[in-house]
Amino acid sequence: TRRLFVCLLGSVCLASSAFAADKVYQVASDAAYAPFESLNAKQEVVGFDVDVLSAAAAKAGFKVKFHNTPWEGIFATLAMGDRDIVASAVTITPERKRSMDFSDPYFEAKQLIAVAANSAIGKFADLKGKKVGVQTGTTGDEVVQKLLGKTNPNIKRFESTPLALQELLAGGVDAVVADNGVVVNFITHNKGSKLKTLDDPSFTKEYYGFAVKKGNAALLARINRGLAVIKTDGTYDQIYKKYFGR
Ligand code: ARG
Repeated sequence: TRRLFVCLLGSVCLASSAFAADKVYQVASDAAYAPFESLNAKQEVVGFDVDVLSAAAAKAGFKVKFHNTPWEGIFATLAMGDRDIVASAVTITPERKRSMDFSDPYFEAKQLIAVAANSAIGKFADLKGKKVGVQTGTTGDEVVQKLLGKTNPNIKRFESTPLALQELLAGGVDAVVADNGVVVNFITHNKGSKLKTLDDPSFTKEYYGFAVKKGNAALLARINRGLAVIKTDGTYDQIYKKYFGR
């Protein structure tokens, strides 16, 4: 790593490794979101987000330590100063941008509807009058609110997306609306689960960004510098291929 010298008046210089170059930033991830973040057998947070942020950090000369953190309250950890970065497949939205800052986008996503393969539900509008599972406070929750109304009791909110999808398998909800990558991953790893996915033209592109405390421009600049490097030197493409195979 880069060694920084801090020089005081009278030219006393301190070789400092405790400064920026070796700073370890604490990262919050809701690790029930494969392939973006999940726990391995050693209970370490692993996944696409971990690889992307770690690679960017290595290029920009800082370190990151990941902590499994419940989605609910994950953004509050920034404001409270417990965590420096949220890396959790977070969609950059205008509303969220009011309370925190985001890195440049690192992934494009969109919503998908998951239903039983034999379901009569054929399109988004068919969810009216149906029980729909979402992860609380996600962009999936938001699109369903737009269709069914914010306080509609048919919106069944879960603390994680896998819990919502398990409930769909159990027949407790008629559909789940969540990010495409996670829905596809769940179906792939639950072969025989007999689920299918539906798209809708009203679902717009979403971009994931790494979130930092509002005003932390220095950290944001470092993350963006690292991201720019890995996007141009092939590292990002390699990581993308590892997780999405193309
Ligand atoms: N992209 C969606 C959002 O920002 C869902 C993210 C959920 N992430 C997670 N690790 N549980 O609302």
